[in-house]
Amino acid sequence: MVKAGANRDLVAVQGLKKYFETKKGIFSRRVRWIRAVDGVDFHIQRGEVFGLVGESGCGKTTVGKLILGLIRPTAGKIYFDGRDLAKMSDEELRRLRRRMGVVYQHPQSSLNPRMTVSEIVGRPLEIHGIAKGEEKEKIVLDVLKEVGLGPEHLERFPHEFSGGQQQRIAIARVLVLKPDFVVLDEPTSALDVSVQAHILNLLSDLREKFSFTYLLISHDLNVVEHMSDRIAVMYVGKIVEIAPQSELRDNPLHPYTQSLLAAVPVPDPKYKPKGIVLRGEIPSVIDPPPGCRFHPRCPYAKPVCREREPEFSEVEDGHYVACHLVRA
Ligand SMILES: Nc1ncnc2c1ncn2[C@@H]1O[C@H](COP(=O)(O)OP(=O)(O)OP(=O)(O)O)[C@@H](O)[C@H]1O
Ligand SMILES: [Mg+2]
Repeated sequence: MVKAGANRDLVAVQGLKKYFETKKGIFSRRVRWIRAVDGVDFHIQRGEVFGLVGESGCGKTTVGKLILGLIRPTAGKIYFDGRDLAKMSDEELRRLRRRMGVVYQHPQSSLNPRMTVSEIVGRPLEIHGIAKGEEKEKIVLDVLKEVGLGPEHLERFPHEFSGGQQQRIAIARVLVLKPDFVVLDEPTSALDVSVQAHILNLLSDLREKFSFTYLLISHDLNVVEHMSDRIAVMYVGKIVEIAPQSELRDNPLHPYTQSLLAAVPVPDPKYKPKGIVLRGEIPSVIDPPPGCRFHPRCPYAKPVCREREPEFSEVEDGHYVACHLVRA
């Protein structure tokens, strides 16, 4: 169980699960469950960047959508600013969502191609009845300036911009409501490497300036490490390790985390990560392996790992891991 930091927490999730129903074929009556998120616990403190990293399909986006209240959990609790999302009416959820923003991976598909930049960024102000007319236009201009765009961009359409600039527009659309909490779901994965650092730096600057709290989702540990205060590592619907960023790099305890770190190129040639190279395939989220989900790929697996699911426990201050081979 993850210790909650009480009122310092902006977000807290407990025993969170999301299962999606699936049928094997169109004629099949057999319902199977995709266990996209299968019991996770964590909390995000006010003002911090909480990184969530893991391979494709492990459930990262689903965690983000659950916290944003876009989908309802199968089980478990989500608290935002101390309030239980499950106890909120649709109207309360709608109001709460004003305090939350999201930036997706593909700016081209998240921006309406028929709307100008001015309309895209100004629209949330209208929808929420915050400003209109000249007042709205002034706010839009101020926000565009924050993301490095200017008045010359106002009447242009998304397709006239590069991927990096489109992502700046998507960030401006979030910024305009001055949210407390922003989910960044692979914000730079679709961008050229040369542009990625600019966008990450912009996101860091905005966080400082506006005291945002971020949930930064990425399959790339490099991206997450660059910005996060604390990092959670996810594997097939479960969080296997949480630690402060530097602690995770210097003292990764879960063999899966060690394998992710070994795959990250390090500029310092003297630095030797604990070298684990993964074998085998990522297991299915429909029929995850019994015991520890990582055991079929783990070079250290013991019989217990096949039989019993490891508990997620705190082994050092703020360092949590779910592994039978790590003792507190
Ligand atoms: N609405 C849905 N209906 C059915 N299955 C879904 C739905 N949304 C997600 N899934 C499944 O849940 C699992 C987790 O998906 P999710 O998108 O959360 O993973 P992810 O870690 O964000 O992956 P990626 O790195 O590819 O974005 C996947 O197997 C996915 O196919
Ligand atoms: Mg995703």
